[in-house]
Amino acid sequence: MAFDLVLFGGTGDLAWRKLMPALFQAFRHGKLPPGGRILAVARDARSDDEYRALIHERFAEVDTAKRPSEEEFARFAGLLHYRRMDLSKVEDYQGLKDWIDARGAETVVLFLATSPELFVPVCEQLGAVGLNGPHVRVVLEKPLGQDLASAQQINRVVRSVFDERQALRIDHYLGKPAVQNLSALRFGNALFEPIWRRESIANIQITLAETLGVGTRGDFYNRTGALRDMVQNHALQLLTMIAMEAPASSDADAIRDEKLKVLRSLRPFGEREVARDVLRGQYRAGAIDGKPVVGYQDEARVPPGSTTETFVALRTEVQNWRWAGVPFYIRTGKRLASQEAHIVINFRHVPHSIFSNSSPANKLVIKLQPEDGLELHLLAAKGTGQHELLAPVSLDLDFGKAFATERVGAYERLLLDALAGRLNLFVRSDEQEQAWRWVEPILHHWSRESEGPKPYAAGSWGPAAASALIARDGFAWSEES
Ligand code: BG6
Repeated sequence: MAFDLVLFGGTGDLAWRKLMPALFQAFRHGKLPPGGRILAVARDARSDDEYRALIHERFAEVDTAKRPSEEEFARFAGLLHYRRMDLSKVEDYQGLKDWIDARGAETVVLFLATSPELFVPVCEQLGAVGLNGPHVRVVLEKPLGQDLASAQQINRVVRSVFDERQALRIDHYLGKPAVQNLSALRFGNALFEPIWRRESIANIQITLAETLGVGTRGDFYNRTGALRDMVQNHALQLLTMIAMEAPASSDADAIRDEKLKVLRSLRPFGEREVARDVLRGQYRAGAIDGKPVVGYQDEARVPPGSTTETFVALRTEVQNWRWAGVPFYIRTGKRLASQEAHIVINFRHVPHSIFSNSSPANKLVIKLQPEDGLELHLLAAKGTGQHELLAPVSLDLDFGKAFATERVGAYERLLLDALAGRLNLFVRSDEQEQAWRWVEPILHHWSRESEGPKPYAAGSWGPAAASALIARDGFAWSEES
């Protein structure tokens, strides 16, 4: 299956930090279909060889295990091409189309790794020159819009040019191996289904914590904030995977229909609920790994006095028979105490204990990073004598060790799926719009509220009020319990 993969934004952060390394891994693993060309598009003039040299240089920053040898790079570089384009000029799109048509690849994937403001004009131009045939797919990288209206506007234009099944919206969390394992855990094993419900589960926590700050993306981040950057997409997608009913088949729409139902069942936020159940924070100076770091407002390209949130904690519920009354807590932030992402399913306590010490209830921890794995926390008998004591023990499954073969990274998986036309791990427009609909009242509330985000020290677990938010229900965040 010969393919052409066109990367708009071919010299941008995403292309060199995530996409090129992922494409190289796919190439190294022998998974890229043969006869492929990867065309980077950007506005500067440079030759194919100059672009290859640039990528070669950038690979020096990739983890050693994932860095190509000279020989491997020489072979990989054979796939790379570069084209200068002014994205406002229709003739440049015509030139691109001619370049693609001259070879007539069976599959053409157009990856828009550009700023989202360009999604509408680029799609319109692609349509104008006819680069939207049935063999073409367009991949849109998040963020898709700033709010519901802008997301709908993008989706309207995308749908006027491409069929829904040609439009692939990326949420790279769906490509993470642990997320596929979540699906396998729930729908490939009969064991958990009977207890995957309100009768057995006390609460569910989703934590996406980063020690990183905003780095060089200060201007982008300042317009975006943690709610749009992490909650509207990554955290909600994880929530849907936990809460959804079993789909009737593995067909992309069967899965996405079930996820959409969860999004529609989330308790809507009114003014009062936002004030009570959502907390925003912003980091101040502190220390990460023992090294001092500046506060958010002193980061490059962040205006002083910015009220953008770098931390969000919230409580919600899924209003249906399976989940009614079970709190789902989401917490995400930059410059937190640890670089980790996990989902914790906290089960209920035994109804009547015959043991003399009080012990934590069972929990299942689904670890997304730094390593992907599963931990099932149980209680075992400990000690002798008159009193039988309970002590926590855990069954620990490290997927990296369980499967000797190398794990496929999120972008590698999603790029290969985009080339193969597998849609399961991409987000449908109605899911994405529903997620916006749900977060919008929070954005509105914040825009009217004078208080601003609560400060927290870099290297902490966020504002103290985050513990209070969950303590209100009699629970604690997993690292505090
Ligand atoms: C991106 C966000 O979508 O996800 C970044 O824009 C964030 O701000 C990143 O750092 C986190 O992804 P991962 O895979 O490193 O957890």
